[in-house]
Amino acid sequence: MRHLIGIEDLSVAEIEALVATAEDIIDNPAKYAEVCHGKKLASLFYEPSTRTRLSFEAAMIELGGSVIGFSEAQSSSAAKGESVADTAKVISCFADIMVMRHFKEGAPMVASLNATVPVINAGDGGHNHPTQTLTDLLTIKREKGRFDNLTVGLCGDLKFGRTVHSLIAALSRYTGIKFVLISPTELMIPDYIKHDIIEKNGIDYVETTDLEAVMPELDILYMTRVQRERFFNEQDYIRLKDSYILSQSKLNLAKSDCIVMHPLPRVNEITVEVDSDPRACYFKQVLYGKYIRMALIKMLLEAAK
Ligand code: NCD
Repeated sequence: MRHLIGIEDLSVAEIEALVATAEDIIDNPAKYAEVCHGKKLASLFYEPSTRTRLSFEAAMIELGGSVIGFSEAQSSSAAKGESVADTAKVISCFADIMVMRHFKEGAPMVASLNATVPVINAGDGGHNHPTQTLTDLLTIKREKGRFDNLTVGLCGDLKFGRTVHSLIAALSRYTGIKFVLISPTELMIPDYIKHDIIEKNGIDYVETTDLEAVMPELDILYMTRVQRERFFNEQDYIRLKDSYILSQSKLNLAKSDCIVMHPLPRVNEITVEVDSDPRACYFKQVLYGKYIRMALIKMLLEAAK
């Protein structure tokens, strides 16, 4: 049984095949309209979500399948004390594939060890978010045309931002990558990512607090929200939340072909005026998320046959 818990569960060749399938879906949607006919996706969201949940649900519907699930832990048996392991066994009786978002790091992994159908991690605490990374990779392919020889600025909450952790793991498998890690000192990238992924793969990187200084060298600027729900103390969140605000005047320092990405939701970290700059890609990124999730659901269901 194949699952997607961390992005490293997929080889580089498999990721590129998923990107190619997503691009074919964009060009030929009718070809895929029935590939999941009669199949059910269970969407199990223990944490808030707009894009990830609805893009998975839209993806399954556009593949001809159907969707069951819940969008808050309080409306599931988790509120009665059911374990993730038991829920995974139960859902395996109803659905052909399940997607889980959970506030606890490792919960989708526990589900995968107990399920008899494929499990997809849709974000586990401050840990990983592999399907956002697939979304980001499709965006990079469509907008930059390559995964190598890129200087990638990652800005904001690099400590708790799970999308950043998974994206670093994916891009660290390519050559000519340089990461520019821009954050307040309290929100720097965790050591396990720095040592076990970036340094282990011999990837070039710098850490800085100064967004404007590094702006001219970036091919991609990946902005993130300060992850309020992961803070122990509201005062710290309030102090750090507006550390970086990308305005048009700051973006004017960037290359003419630098793209701006953001997993969304945006709070204050990109001003609305930037949305109309042709380099702003974050709303296109949302749409790409649906296509890559279609490709992923198709792949995992085929592997489960
Ligand atoms: C991200 C997440 O949930 O980690 N959102 C998303 O899935 N697009 C980013 C965030 O919430 O800041």
